[in-house]
Amino acid sequence: MLEMRAITKRFPGVLANDRVDFDLRAGEVHTLLGENGAGKSTLMKILYGLYQPDEGEILLNGSPVEIHSPTDAIDLNVGMIHQHFMMVESLTVAENVALGLPSNRGFRTDLDAVSERITELGTRYGLKIDPSATVWQLSVGQKQRVEIIKALFRDANLLILDEPTAVLTPQEVDQLFKTLRQMTEDGRGLIFISHKLHEVLALSDRITVLRQGRITGQVPVEGATRESLARMMVGREVKLAPDKPAVEPGRPRLRIESLTVLGDRGDEAVRSLNLEVRAGEILSIAGVSGNGQREMAETIGGLRQPTSGAIFIDDTDVAGKTPAEIRAAGLSYVPEGRMKNGCIGAFTVSENLLLVDHQKAPYVKWGLFDFGVIKEHSAQLVKQYAVKTPTLDTTARSLSGGNIQKLILAREISGTPKVLVASQPTRGVDIGAAEYIHKRLVEQRTEDTAILVISEDLDEVFALADRIAVIYEGQIMGMVDPATTSREEIGLMMAGVHPETTSDRP
Ligand SMILES: Nc1ncnc2c1ncn2[C@@H]1O[C@H](COP(=O)(O)OP(=O)(O)O)[C@@H](O)[C@H]1O
Ligand SMILES: [Mg+2]
Repeated sequence: MLEMRAITKRFPGVLANDRVDFDLRAGEVHTLLGENGAGKSTLMKILYGLYQPDEGEILLNGSPVEIHSPTDAIDLNVGMIHQHFMMVESLTVAENVALGLPSNRGFRTDLDAVSERITELGTRYGLKIDPSATVWQLSVGQKQRVEIIKALFRDANLLILDEPTAVLTPQEVDQLFKTLRQMTEDGRGLIFISHKLHEVLALSDRITVLRQGRITGQVPVEGATRESLARMMVGREVKLAPDKPAVEPGRPRLRIESLTVLGDRGDEAVRSLNLEVRAGEILSIAGVSGNGQREMAETIGGLRQPTSGAIFIDDTDVAGKTPAEIRAAGLSYVPEGRMKNGCIGAFTVSENLLLVDHQKAPYVKWGLFDFGVIKEHSAQLVKQYAVKTPTLDTTARSLSGGNIQKLILAREISGTPKVLVASQPTRGVDIGAAEYIHKRLVEQRTEDTAILVISEDLDEVFALADRIAVIYEGQIMGMVDPATTSREEIGLMMAGVHPETTSDRP
């Protein structure tokens, strides 16, 4: 149904698409896979009429077409679900779906008919939604359903989904994939954009890999593996799970006792939570975001005050202390809010790398900064963690999110803390850098550090964890052994289903 031929798109200083060929057959899911900045969204925005290509042509059902705007695209039955939803929050679902419909131009739209059709589509494709609900009341997953319904309403035959799973829980992802499968069975063609390898393998018929604007591989899903896809994305062999030497865990170094913490809305985000992390182990917290994991980590780091409970680092109770005091007690902390809590935007890369060690040798000699040592140390960290920065004197705020992330990790993991808490350590980071970060976390484990990793990415949880604690509504639902527990079991616990039948070896 679609052929894109030799598409080239330049932005100032960037070749975003370099003679890219891409096609789609009716009834298939063709995935575009690639790291951040590879050119996936650009190619799809060209197809949806948001950008004009510099070179190349587009054919739909064999005929060349010019797509100058999304209106042109919709007229050609091309729909796109964006990374960021585009709806009027104060209107109802039905009103949002009706907005901009051709029948709306000049005629009064029959909202009852629209609602009826929404319910019909909802039943057919498993997109349950109340047409009379106001959009601001909906969860992210529900908003996405509305976007899909909007596209179906406009008779989209070819649907582009740009990273649709980024905002969903594992259960919502399963439901979305069922919906998408149903749509291909009806003969629609889907273009799925993602960088999550297991999802790509679960959903796709064909996979095209982009790297720096160029196609580096095009394969059927049969025979593709996470490793082979990662190799095409990064351009070299990638270890997706770090080698983990056996380490006998020692004494508990982080002990959380009956911790209760209020969330931003004054509700109890963490409720009498108990947890122990031992020297030499990585404990991963798995959970759907919003279940108290962020508040828990912020409280350990001193960014948030608990209402009750204790947090011991070795023998020091640090609950309620300042971040500086807690750091002095032996904590390294990689916060989730990187820009707000993890670095100082106006400081340079070099200064940010030094933020926490600035009064110590070898950076200070005879009371003076040793700039030679500082430069050398910074340059080494920037290289190891592949922080993309023009110079060491560039300000942190001018780096991309993924690079800020690597900068903070470089600083926090490079010491030898007693306890390391890392929230979403590789979110927004390239696979290559994630590989290095995982390797460093595992190395840190052999230094007797107690490591707590909080992640929404189950691949990451499984790759790192010696034990997995599942958090649900501010409490630990269960503690499981990753070697004997399946993703499905953990997914159920993340949804609040008690682990009666699952492994309970702590
Ligand atoms: N509107 C734009 N102006 C300038 N550069 C852009 C624009 N959109 C994308 N780019 C650049 O083009 C490259 C590809 O970006 P994009 O298509 O968004 O990648 P992906 O979706 O694979 O993450 C990146 O280097 C990005 O910075
Ligand atoms: Mg994109």
